[in-house]
Amino acid sequence: MIGDQKVLFSGMQATGNLTLGNYLGALKNWVSLTDEYQCFYCVVDEHSITVRQDPAVLRKRARALLTLYIAAGIDPEKACLYYQSHVSAHAELAWILNCFTYMGEMNRMTQFKDKSAKHADNINVGLFAYPVLMAADILLYQADIVPVGNDQLQHLEITRDIAERFNNIYGDVFTIPEPYIGKTGARIMSLQDPGKKMSKSDENPNASIYLMDDRDTIMRKFKRAVTDSEAQIVYREEQPGIRNLIDIYCSCTGKTPDEVVREFDGKGYGELKTAVGETVADTLTPLQERVAALSKDKAYIDGIIKNNAEKAQYFANKTLRKVQHKIGFPDRIR
Ligand code: TYM
Repeated sequence: MIGDQKVLFSGMQATGNLTLGNYLGALKNWVSLTDEYQCFYCVVDEHSITVRQDPAVLRKRARALLTLYIAAGIDPEKACLYYQSHVSAHAELAWILNCFTYMGEMNRMTQFKDKSAKHADNINVGLFAYPVLMAADILLYQADIVPVGNDQLQHLEITRDIAERFNNIYGDVFTIPEPYIGKTGARIMSLQDPGKKMSKSDENPNASIYLMDDRDTIMRKFKRAVTDSEAQIVYREEQPGIRNLIDIYCSCTGKTPDEVVREFDGKGYGELKTAVGETVADTLTPLQERVAALSKDKAYIDGIIKNNAEKAQYFANKTLRKVQHKIGFPDRIR
C-alpha cells in the first residue's frame, strides 16, 4: 500500500514497433487503472538488451514509449512513468533474486524457448534470467496487481513463486502480486496467422497493426487479414481469424462478442473487416496526434523523466534496503 492505495506495476519493452496487441492487451487497461491504484509504469530498457540493440535506436524508442504512455492518457502526476535503467535497484534486486531462482524453473519458460530459437547466435545469460529481472521490477514496488496480456502470465507465476520462497525464509518481505487480465484484448492474434499472437517481432508486417500505422495501412492490413471459408460471422474457436477480428472490435468499442455477432448478422467478412479497420484507425489516429504534439515539448517530457525517476527510486530503495538487511548485507552507516 502507498497511502491508502494498492500498488500496481507494469512495464513494456521499447523494442520494435509497438502493436495493437500491446495497446489493447496492456496500455489501454493501464489508463483505466490509474485512479484506483498507485501506479508504476516502467519503460523496461534493461529487458531490451537481452537482444542486441542499436544504442541510438534504443534511446529514441525508449523516449517514444514513455511519450506514448502519456499520449494514451496516463497522467504523469498520478502515475509514475520512468525508465528501468534510471533506478539501479532493479538490477540489484534481480541479482539477489537470481540466487533464489532455480535453473530448472527458468528452463521451462516458453518465452525463453521461443526467443532462443529466434536468436540462436545470442542465447545470453540475460535472456535466460529475464523473468528474474521482471520479478525484481514487480516486487520492488510491493505491487498488488500487474496488468498484462496473456503471454506474460507464466512470468507472473514465477514472480509469485520467487516471492513466496523468499518470504518463507525471511518473513513477510514481499507482497505477492496478482495478475490483472482485461476482459477483452488479452490475446490479440496475428492477422496473417490467427493461431499465434500479434507480435512486434513478426517478420511479416501485414501480421501486425503498428500503433503508428496510418489509416490506409490499417485498412489494407485488415482487408488482407486471414479468415476462413465458413462465410458466417460467429464467435467460436473453430474460426480464429473471425474471432480475433471480433475481439479487436469489442476491445475498441466496449461491445460484447454477442452484440457484434448480432450487428453483423447476414453481413459478409468484407463488411466486418472494414468496420474493424475503421474503428482501429479511429482509436489510433488521436493517439498518434497526441504523440506528435507531446514529442515537441522536450522540457515537459524531460521534467517527467527526472521527477518520476526520483519517485521510483525512493520506493524501490525502501524495499531493496529491507531485502539487503534480511539477507545479511551490512547496514549503511548514516
Ligand atoms: P512486452 O513489451 O512484450 O509487451 C507489453 C505488454 O503488451 C502485452 N501484449 C499483448 N497483449 C495482448 N495481445 C498481444 N498480442 C500482446 N502482445 C503483447 C504483454 O502481455 C505486455 O503486458 N516482459 C514484459 C515487460 C515487463 C513487465 C515487467 C511487464 C518487464 N517487466 C513487469 C509487467 C511487469 C514484456 O516483454 O512485455
